[in-house]
Amino acid sequence: MSGPRLDHERLRDFAKRVFGQLSGAVTSALISLGDALGLYRALAEHGPCSSTELAAHTGTSERWVREWLYNQAAAELIETRADGRFALSPEAACVLAEETHPAFGAGMFSQLPQQLGLVSELQQSFRSGLGLRYDAFGPEGARGVERGFAPWIKNFLVPVGVAAVTGLRERLEAGAQVADVGCGAGVALLELARAFPDSEFHGYELSRHALERAARNLEEAALGNVHFHHVDEEPLPDDGRYSAILSFDCLHDMAQPGQVMAAIRRALAGDGVWWIADIKSFASFEENVAENPMAAMMYGFSVLTCMSSALSEPGGAGLGTLGFHEALARKMARDAGFTRFRRLDIEHPVNAFYEARP
Ligand SMILES: C[S@@+](CC[C@H](N)C(=O)[O-])C[C@H]1O[C@@H](n2cnc3c(N)ncnc32)[C@H](O)[C@@H]1O
Repeated sequence: MSGPRLDHERLRDFAKRVFGQLSGAVTSALISLGDALGLYRALAEHGPCSSTELAAHTGTSERWVREWLYNQAAAELIETRADGRFALSPEAACVLAEETHPAFGAGMFSQLPQQLGLVSELQQSFRSGLGLRYDAFGPEGARGVERGFAPWIKNFLVPVGVAAVTGLRERLEAGAQVADVGCGAGVALLELARAFPDSEFHGYELSRHALERAARNLEEAALGNVHFHHVDEEPLPDDGRYSAILSFDCLHDMAQPGQVMAAIRRALAGDGVWWIADIKSFASFEENVAENPMAAMMYGFSVLTCMSSALSEPGGAGLGTLGFHEALARKMARDAGFTRFRRLDIEHPVNAFYEARP
């Protein structure tokens, strides 16, 4: 057989790299199982466990738990002890078991089964150009989105985030009308509503599953100053009634972000502030790859979710996970009628924050 001469060492290295991706994918599936079944939480709570003990703590079957533990230990996520038991290091417990810890990350894996379940449908999207809305991932998908950024929101939104936006704390303390556009399950809005009981908060969302989660979260929080709206039935008002509007991690997902930004401008008071969070990114693919060690994962999430959502209507903008970079945000804000724009000094593992004013 003729063809290019192969360098066998490079061939082996490349195959290893490809199978490293497969290893990450199947271990990720098992992380989502460990999270859903409470296996990490039980290990964190009870300390080192044999497979029999862990199965007993979680009401699961020992043989399955043993194989799961072998995967997790081989992937070096779980430690093995000299007596044959398995344990989480304190750091692993923060990332995998402690839902309220700022470093908690297992929530990000809970969307995977829904995302991967729709991969074959995406073949059609590649052909037609039309993607899927967030609701395609069902109620569990909405729960996964909710858990993704909740640790940062619950730990830092009020003490760090609000403090960074000029004059926002004072307004919220005095009593303000606030909207969150693309509010998801309302995690940020409920956090603000708890901290600032004299203000009133309105969440606007396209996903019915996210709104169902939001209603449940509101009931649990038992707050009287929060309301949620479906954007098709109750769009943003155009009377400038809001003195602060948030849009967190959603503009890059929107089919028509320019129209939504113009609607945000109309809903905002002349002296109001628009607080934006979106994924840190750069104007070019080359910069994203050079500067972002998670670029491959981000472009992957884009195809599976963000860009797909942003192309879910004909003519959709299709910005995608890394598509709403600072220069574009500035330009689009200006086009929507905002004259001032500032990047905020807020640390976040993946997001950049901005404030824009009319
Ligand atoms: C990644 S989620 C972020 C949700 C929430 N802000 C959070 O931080 O958890 C993006 C959300 O934008 C919503 N979305 C997309 N297009 C929208 C639109 N035109 N109006 C309102 N929400 C929209 C999606 O349904 C999805 O819930």
